[in-house]
Amino acid sequence: MSAPTEGLAFQAFGRATRVRRTVPLRRIVMGLACAVSLSLCLIVSAILIVNARQAVQEETESAFRLAHEAVVRRLPPSHGGRDTMTEAIGLAEEIDGLRHVSARILDPEGQPLQHRAHGQLRSEASAPQWFSALMTPPLVEALVPITHYPNVLGMLRVAADPTDEIAEVWGDFSIILPVLFLAGLAMVGLAFLMTTLLTRRLQSVQAAMAQMQDGRLSVRAPDDRLTEFADLAAGVNALASHLQAEQAENDLLQARLIGSSEAERSRIALDLHDEMGPQLFALRAAVSHAQAMTADLPERPAALDETLDAIAGHALEVQRSARTAINDLRPMLLGEASLAELLAELVTGFRDVASETRVVLDVDPEVEGSSPGELAELSIYRFARESVLNAMRHGRATVVRVSLDTMPDEPGQIVVRVTDNGKGPQSGTGRPTPGFGQIGIEDRARALGATYLPPWRDNRLTHTELRMPRPCKLR
Ligand SMILES: Nc1ncnc2c1ncn2[C@@H]1O[C@H](COP(=O)(O)OP(=O)(O)OP(=O)(O)O)[C@@H](O)[C@H]1O
Ligand SMILES: [Mg+2]
Repeated sequence: MSAPTEGLAFQAFGRATRVRRTVPLRRIVMGLACAVSLSLCLIVSAILIVNARQAVQEETESAFRLAHEAVVRRLPPSHGGRDTMTEAIGLAEEIDGLRHVSARILDPEGQPLQHRAHGQLRSEASAPQWFSALMTPPLVEALVPITHYPNVLGMLRVAADPTDEIAEVWGDFSIILPVLFLAGLAMVGLAFLMTTLLTRRLQSVQAAMAQMQDGRLSVRAPDDRLTEFADLAAGVNALASHLQAEQAENDLLQARLIGSSEAERSRIALDLHDEMGPQLFALRAAVSHAQAMTADLPERPAALDETLDAIAGHALEVQRSARTAINDLRPMLLGEASLAELLAELVTGFRDVASETRVVLDVDPEVEGSSPGELAELSIYRFARESVLNAMRHGRATVVRVSLDTMPDEPGQIVVRVTDNGKGPQSGTGRPTPGFGQIGIEDRARALGATYLPPWRDNRLTHTELRMPRPCKLR
């Protein structure tokens, strides 16, 4: 896939991923953990309350039945001689002292005659009101008359009393409920820890993948002690290694293609030079000979002079065109002169054809006389020529500077920069769509392991740069 198509494909992919709504894993896990913990607390509490309520009801009712039976049996109607009221008071105190039941003496109007013996003690250990309301079963009571025939002295009221049973259940609850709550909290905390751990590990793999996407295929996802993440990292790394190998093979193929295409161009240039050159030279020599011969003729037709002049002019033009074509196929000085001389010849050529633009060459003395290899020189030459042409054609620049330097931090690297004072690329902030010129430069740079920086604006100037390593991959 070529660079622009690849870029468009990535943009389309980016748009597609932006449109799709995604939900973070942490939000789902935390939401689920909270919901599960809360429902667990509620369900367990509800089951405990229902069971405890039933147990309270059963226990208090059975205690009530026993107490009621005892009262009925021990408090028969009196027909004189016995102090039934004293007996009833004693019985009431005795029953009131038992668990789960209460007993009180009421007057004939139903008003209590006696305070409960154990009521105060019991209320001290009682459960909170909301809990008592939740647990209290329906009231069960019975009134047994205290008689001294023919008078009814009062009533002995026996009732089921769940207070102490409820207090006991509350005692269990006040331990179970906080434990349940703490267990829920621990579950949420665990979910938080797990998601933090997982997202951190995923983020480190994602960071490595983002770097790979940027073209740094030598980056590797970090290894992990968790099996699943170690497998994921191994998978990503295997993919990166595979891509790296594929890219290296592509670069090699590209380099071979460029090498063979340059060899082909050189052969055509040589053929043109060797075949056409002498023939054109011979043609021009023959024409000038013919002109010399006709010049001596006393009466010659004017049309003959004009025709011979036209032949000479056309021969010259064909020779010039052939030279330009040969130079375009392979610079004549390549392999004969240094890189600086090659570029100097290029700049001089521009001065001849475009007088309205001043093209200057600036060569660092360190680079002068160096020869990074024929293919690298050719790529630098083609880069400089295309960039100067672009500055003239697209930027309408009046001054173009071609500089040849070395990088201070990488002394072996040759940096060729073309700077112009034109209006710069026109596509807003983004990079303009590359044409054949830039695609050719990029392909060559990749094959040679060089870096191409497409035009960028800085301080009202347009710069474009090629960084050629020394030695480059192909020589
Ligand atoms: N120095 C520059 N100033 C202004 N615009 C530039 C400059 N260099 C490149 N560009 C922009 O980059 C685009 C791509 O340049 P490139 O050389 O790849 O293609 P082209 O010149 O349009 O066509 P080709 O080189 O194939 O004949 C140009 O169309 C132009 O808009
Ligand atoms: Mg161009």
